Amino acid sequence: MSKMHVKLTVNGKQVEGLAEPRTLLIHFLREDLKITGPHIGCETSHCGACTVDIDGKSVKSCTTFVAQVNGADIATVEGLTNDDGSLGVLQEMFREHHGLQCGFCTPGMITRAHRLLQENPNPTEEDIRFGMSGNLCRCTGYQNIVKAIAASADMLNAQKEAAE
Ligand code: FES
Ligand code: FES
Repeated sequence: MSKMHVKLTVNGKQVEGLAEPRTLLIHFLREDLKITGPHIGCETSHCGACTVDIDGKSVKSCTTFVAQVNGADIATVEGLTNDDGSLGVLQEMFREHHGLQCGFCTPGMITRAHRLLQENPNPTEEDIRFGMSGNLCRCTGYQNIVKAIAASADMLNAQKEAAE
C-alpha cells in the first residue's frame, strides 16, 4: 500500500514519517516514533490506555489514523514532565497518592487528567469520575486516581494563584 508523508508536532518537537493510510496513530507513535508510553488495552475503543492530547482534546489514538491528524500538535505522557525533566504535577500526585499499580493505564490516565483539569480546573469528585470515565484501570479501583487528580487540581490552582 502506498505511504503518505505525515508531519506532526509531538511533545513540542517536529517529527515526520511515512505511514500507510490504515496506520493507527497509536502504532505510529509507538512503532515509528518509539514513544511507548501510550498503550493498547483493547480493540473496541473502551480502555483509554492509548489516550493522547491532540490539538487540545483528549483522543484515543487507537481510534485515529495518523493520516487524519497530519499537522496536529500532540502531547503524550512523555511530554507532561517539567521543563527540567522532573515529574509534572499530575505525575508527582499519582506517585504520592498511589494512583497506579501495574502502570499500564497510567500514561492514558495522566494525559486525560491533564486535559480534564484544563477543561475544569475545580472539579468535584463526581466531575473527576465522570471526566475520567473513558479510561479503565484494572488495578487501583480508581479511588486513588481520583485523589491524585483532586490533589493535582489544588496544587495547580495554588501555583496559578502564586504566579498572579
Ligand atoms: S487501546 Fe483501548 S481505547 Fe485505545
Ligand atoms: S494501574 Fe494497572 S491498569 Fe491501572
